[in-house]
Amino acid sequence: MKVDFIDLKRVHEPYLQEIQDAVAAVVASGQYVNGPVVGRFEASFADYTGAPFAIGTSNGTDALSLALMALDIGPGDEVLVPAFTFISPASCVARLGATPVFVDIDEAYGMCPSDMATKIGAKTKAVVAVHLFGQCCDPAVFDVADQAGLPVIEDAAQAVGATHRGEHAGTLGAVGCFSFFPTKNLGALGDAGMLTTSDAALADKLRMLRSHGSKPKYVHHFLGANFRLDPIQAAVLQVKLKYLDGENQKRARNAARYDSELRIAGPVVRAHNVHTFHQYCVKLADRDQVRSSLADMGVSTMIYYPHALTEQPVFSGASPCPRAEATAKQILALPIYPGLTASEQDTVIQAVNERVIL
Ligand SMILES: Cc1ncc(COP(=O)(O)O)c(C=O)c1O
Repeated sequence: MKVDFIDLKRVHEPYLQEIQDAVAAVVASGQYVNGPVVGRFEASFADYTGAPFAIGTSNGTDALSLALMALDIGPGDEVLVPAFTFISPASCVARLGATPVFVDIDEAYGMCPSDMATKIGAKTKAVVAVHLFGQCCDPAVFDVADQAGLPVIEDAAQAVGATHRGEHAGTLGAVGCFSFFPTKNLGALGDAGMLTTSDAALADKLRMLRSHGSKPKYVHHFLGANFRLDPIQAAVLQVKLKYLDGENQKRARNAARYDSELRIAGPVVRAHNVHTFHQYCVKLADRDQVRSSLADMGVSTMIYYPHALTEQPVFSGASPCPRAEATAKQILALPIYPGLTASEQDTVIQAVNERVIL
């Protein structure tokens, strides 16, 4: 049996008509930039996460850039970022002329608070903490940042719906950044993102920066750009937000099956966290061989991420982060998406267990 890593058409099947109707309503409205559809989705997202303010953006990368811009990060500043994640946190810092300082990871793939403490210096201005693979990072990251007086930008791109002690990812620090890239747990039909904050002044500044730093239109207080959320994507996301918790429960059910039936250890779930299993990753010494035998059996897998950021040519000269670099050689993501059927999951489990030598 062929098992896809993710099949987005299958994900959308149950609510396709609702999505088509929502898109058609935007087309019929004649308003294709900003407008009530964007405002409504921002309000619903604020409601869902419990964040007092939610500001739609063009994508998750731009949400991170906006957060850094709103905190006045620039040349001469250092920002702590995890060494093992997607490139956006580090690239957004570097594009503003600041220096990303890489922090090693812990056993649950999040920023390691003790390594983080050693990397704080006089030039450190902020921290970007990533809630990788669908669960909140170690809460000690916030304590270490607090003690040093540093604001924490949360990269919750992979963690919509995840909570720590009942509080949503994106509401634990100064500002939360979300991505609605199509494969995310809450995915648009294109690019989209969101910012969350409890700080009214910061929300105001983020809103201005999103639209060329202006308020009102054509009066520019800051150098911003066009980082707006598209209303068609907002309409699609408004429909999909209703189903998010149900879809996350399906991911959790799939993860529980892997946990009990795979002959290898699954992801570490931190205390007091609700994990949303954006990815279900295992570690294997012979990862590449296992991956190619699974591919021969029709099972698709992915590698998030094949290289630590400290190993990227664009960041050459970065100090090594040994755990991040070792993880990149061993990690493998198995299909976990809500559309995965029980018999497809049987195939994955059987294929992995056959291949794993204890
Ligand atoms: C951890 C992380 N941060 C940031 C991003 C960037 O989001 P986007 O692709 O919407 O720009 C992604 C998604 O791809 C991500 O996984």
